[in-house]
Amino acid sequence: MQLQRQSWGSKIGVILAVAGSAIGLGNFLRFPVQAVKNGGGAFIIPYLISFLLLGIPLMWIEWTLGRFGGGFGHGTAPGMFHNIANKNRFIKYFGVIGIFGPIAIFTYYTYIESWLLGYSIFSITGKLAACQDQTSMVAFLQGYQGLEKNGFFSSLVPAYIFFILTFGINLITVAGGIQKGIERVCKYGLPVLFVLGIVLMIRVLTLSPMYVEHPDWTPIAGLGFLWNPDFSSLLDAKVWLAAAGQIFFTLSVGIGVILTYASYLTKNDDVILSGLTAAATNEWVEIVLGGSIAVTSAFLFFGPAGIKDVAGSGAFNLGFVAMPLALNHIPYGSVFGFFWFFLLFIAGVTSSISLAQPAIAFLEDEFNLDRKKAVKIFAAVTFVLCNMTVFLLGKGFLDEFDFWGGTFALVLFGTIEAILFSWVFGIDKAWDEMHAGSDITLPRFYRFIIKYITPTFLVVILVSWFLREAKDVILMKNVPDEMVPFIIFARFILFALFVAIAYLVHIAWKQKEKKT
Ligand code: ALA
Repeated sequence: MQLQRQSWGSKIGVILAVAGSAIGLGNFLRFPVQAVKNGGGAFIIPYLISFLLLGIPLMWIEWTLGRFGGGFGHGTAPGMFHNIANKNRFIKYFGVIGIFGPIAIFTYYTYIESWLLGYSIFSITGKLAACQDQTSMVAFLQGYQGLEKNGFFSSLVPAYIFFILTFGINLITVAGGIQKGIERVCKYGLPVLFVLGIVLMIRVLTLSPMYVEHPDWTPIAGLGFLWNPDFSSLLDAKVWLAAAGQIFFTLSVGIGVILTYASYLTKNDDVILSGLTAAATNEWVEIVLGGSIAVTSAFLFFGPAGIKDVAGSGAFNLGFVAMPLALNHIPYGSVFGFFWFFLLFIAGVTSSISLAQPAIAFLEDEFNLDRKKAVKIFAAVTFVLCNMTVFLLGKGFLDEFDFWGGTFALVLFGTIEAILFSWVFGIDKAWDEMHAGSDITLPRFYRFIIKYITPTFLVVILVSWFLREAKDVILMKNVPDEMVPFIIFARFILFALFVAIAYLVHIAWKQKEKKT
């Protein structure tokens, strides 16, 4: 007997859950770093174009496919693809990416999230205030991460304790189920996040220049650094790739998680307006809060040239080094530091629970397991994977998982979804399915965009990646020799994970065939 599928408690609940999935470390840490690395104002135009031509269409595609698949009892991509492709024997295997990607991201995302919990405590207890310059703040971070033993940390134990706490919080939430776990956490978490974000933004934007010798390092100049558009960026393929990648990551599209969340909708629930609301909420947080807090405070402290250095010298330096350093220089800095890290921690939790749900839904839906059992299996597998990230951080594990799971898989999966939706399911059926139960009707030019522009744009991104970078990445050209064995090991783990999921899909469908 098929177990009863779960459902959302309210419309606002599902919108907040999807917004919660989207609003994450990507909004506050990844976005400013990408923007700074890709020339500040140069980044914004490709970013906004990618949002309109990729982000929004994929958001609608995933909400629609998810609700459609949920109607057949499928909460993940294999079952959804199987149904839109007339039960073709092979298409369902493309859906494996939509379970693989979230697990790969979850593996490192929860660990970074746990640093935020740790840093919240270090801020409020004044431990971070002891670091007054960049060198000591970097040493603090590296000591905490276990990359070096120093006066701040002599072992990985504190980081490991915060990791276990964070991992536990995530699993307890998903074990609570869709309504009582995920929806509830997002309903309380997001308002807190908004309030903390707005308070921090106001504080940062009203700061005076920090140095007498640099009176022009003002908050407004910091905003201008990020927001003054540079039209020449439209000619640089690298900036386009970075902008499109950021749109995927921040909206949580192309991962597989929105498909799963939308599968708990009912047949006539609106998807267009809800999807748009969730995406708009994410963009508001990314652009207004994410775009003003970290860059502006770092600008006040480091100035236009220094901010590029600090962002370029390590993926986490803007959030974990520049930001606390700047906050250390203002009154009540430890309280604002706590706000910053705790806000990020909440943003992280509401995202990582969405990364956990596809694999759990897959086990529940396709193997008829009850939730507790599914969560236990997920916990056992990801615990082992997370430990690899924890202990092999300095060996490039995190970056490797992030590249294949958090960048490449997203674009590939997004391309597959867009093609299947418009060309295999068929744009006529797809358009009707999107509009079923909809609170609004989309202008017809979006039909053209979804059918032609979005898939073409995605194929162009993939092809240009292959031409520009694939060879170097695959052959590990920029990997230092001593790290090569670890990178190969990371790839082996990722490959094994992918094959294992594909095999489970195979077994699940074999069992279904036997039953019919
Ligand atoms: N969308 C999530 C983030 O931005 C994954 O962090």
